[in-house]
Amino acid sequence: MLDLDALQARYRTVTGEEPQGLWFAPGRVNLIGEHTDYNDGFVLPFALDKKAVIAGGRRDDDQLVLVSLELDDEVHTSIGELSPGTEGWFSYLAGVVWALREAGHSVGGANLVMTSDVPLGAGLSSSAAIECATVAALVDLYGLDIAPMDRAKIARVAENAYVGAPTGLLDQAASTLCKADHGLFLDCRTLETEHVPLPMAEQGYEMLVLDTKTPHSHVDGEYGTRRATCEAAAAKLGIPALRDVEDLDAALAQLDDETMIKRVRHVVTENERVLKAFELARTADLAELAPLLDESHASMRDDYEITVPTVDLAVDTAKAAGALGARMTGGGFGGCIIALTKAGEADRIGQAIADAFDEAGFGAPVWFTVTPAPGAGRLS
Ligand code: GLA
Repeated sequence: MLDLDALQARYRTVTGEEPQGLWFAPGRVNLIGEHTDYNDGFVLPFALDKKAVIAGGRRDDDQLVLVSLELDDEVHTSIGELSPGTEGWFSYLAGVVWALREAGHSVGGANLVMTSDVPLGAGLSSSAAIECATVAALVDLYGLDIAPMDRAKIARVAENAYVGAPTGLLDQAASTLCKADHGLFLDCRTLETEHVPLPMAEQGYEMLVLDTKTPHSHVDGEYGTRRATCEAAAAKLGIPALRDVEDLDAALAQLDDETMIKRVRHVVTENERVLKAFELARTADLAELAPLLDESHASMRDDYEITVPTVDLAVDTAKAAGALGARMTGGGFGGCIIALTKAGEADRIGQAIADAFDEAGFGAPVWFTVTPAPGAGRLS
């Protein structure tokens, strides 16, 4: 639970002033469309009601005072000292100041005190939540006029160029642009979006999110390797990105590397699944999306090879215990699974997975249910 009183009290202790406002940005789950974003493809995430919140204030000098309530850490730096590649939690905030300035926006010093209840390293975009909340705060504090998609792009620059994680736009777009009770369909090439209603409760369903507690990290080589293989495959096929594969069999016939063939097959079939899910979400009962979740998981496990034993056991157990569909969500190598269940079933299914983990000698998972929440904004 976020303690906003403690957040504001900390702001007062650090600065001797009242915060000029509170801004938030949520974590996300990706309903479907994994590792498609950097292939110019399609994604369909929704925002969580778990978020980063920043108490912020503008300063008259060029100092940045950055505080994390959870870590009980306070960092003082200045605009002149900002330097891409700096490590540490505060680089997600400092990186946004840097990215805004790189984009030509006039941003000076600020006091930014943050808190977050997005689980860290669980594949729920804890980093994008911090970045997007920072963008929201600085846009207001400095009276900047930046359209929502451009705010997401700035946050992504912070992640890519400052923090050094070569991710796509999925997380920052979701954290910035999502709407309550809706998924966000995003075409990562044209940047066209559509909010798709996801009336889970109305239709008698629940969405379980279960954190396997197997930590993952994007700065790791595996994410970058997947991305490089996709780019090499597109170059071999003579197309700008894997999004442009029109005939999968013909494309695969032009490749001879088994690993590359698998990676391409995942991306192309995953894009098809997102488009189908988008269509079904607009026209059909949400249960009809469930088989796509299962197929997506199998593709991530067998072709993209980004799942791990805890994640596979969680998905298999969810299905065996009656989930309609289940898949890993996020970048992979650990983190969370999602499962679409009938209303009232999610908790029992979470418990079944916990029992299976116990039996397998894995650590205890944590689970909760989610409904699509709004994207970044001002709280007060
Ligand atoms: C991480 C990245 C995203 C996306 C997903 C995989 O969350 O930040 O850009 O590539 O992995 O779909």
